[in-house]
Amino acid sequence: MRLAIFGATGKTGKHLVEQALAQGHQVTALVRNPSKLAVQNPNLVVKPGDISDVTCVNDTIAGADAVLSVLGPTSNAPDFVVSRGTQNIIDAMKKNGVQRLVISAGAGVEDPNDQPGLFNHVMGFALKLTAKNVYADMNRTVAVVRASEVDWTVVRVPMLTNDPGTGKVQVGYVGKGMGPRIARADMASWILKQASERQYLRQAPAISN
Ligand SMILES: NC(=O)c1ccc[n+]([C@@H]2O[C@H](COP(=O)([O-])OP(=O)(O)OC[C@H]3O[C@@H](n4cnc5c(N)ncnc54)[C@H](OP(=O)(O)O)[C@@H]3O)[C@@H](O)[C@H]2O)c1
Repeated sequence: MRLAIFGATGKTGKHLVEQALAQGHQVTALVRNPSKLAVQNPNLVVKPGDISDVTCVNDTIAGADAVLSVLGPTSNAPDFVVSRGTQNIIDAMKKNGVQRLVISAGAGVEDPNDQPGLFNHVMGFALKLTAKNVYADMNRTVAVVRASEVDWTVVRVPMLTNDPGTGKVQVGYVGKGMGPRIARADMASWILKQASERQYLRQAPAISN
């Protein structure tokens, strides 16, 4: 497949790019700082730029079969960069006739299927207290995706670790079959799988190890 990847220089994004290339996909990645992406591969095209730049986003998405985003706010400033960038992604998908979008978000972003217990409520409260604008940006991001007409899947995750991938991912909802953490390698692998699957279309499950 031809995949457009956003957030490729991030800790999960690096796994995503490596795994996609290892599976023989063609990857186009929009990155702010190309020197952060060490991998070189004939199937990888790196587009330098920012997600707030409509032209860069459009050039990254043109010709793609699916768009994968593991973007995350890199500061707690109230600039809502990721949600605004995600709107640019959706607009570019519409313009280029690209339908499939898989994005990641924290499990703190709610879904109607969640059944949060006390632990989840405490974690959610702590998140809103310590990372208010990060939470608000990701909440807006998911709202923008839900309101769109693309074939979306939002992959929500608990605490991320840099542990080696286990190959075992459980799929549930908050308070209903979600463990406390997931390895970024497993998260990347599950997101990549969704590019060609439709089981979780217009759904926002929470995955964990
Ligand atoms: N960390 C956690 O424990 C945790 C928990 C729950 C959910 N999540 C979510 O899981 C996902 C992946 O997390 P992670 O820890 O792998 O993320 P990360 O390492 O912080 O990576 C974030 C990525 O977004 C990119 N980015 C941010 N603003 C950008 C902009 N304006 N233009 C272009 N790229 C931009 C960053 O680029 P640069 O490299 O240039 O900064 C980076 O590639 C995110 O959606 C995050 O919100 C994380």
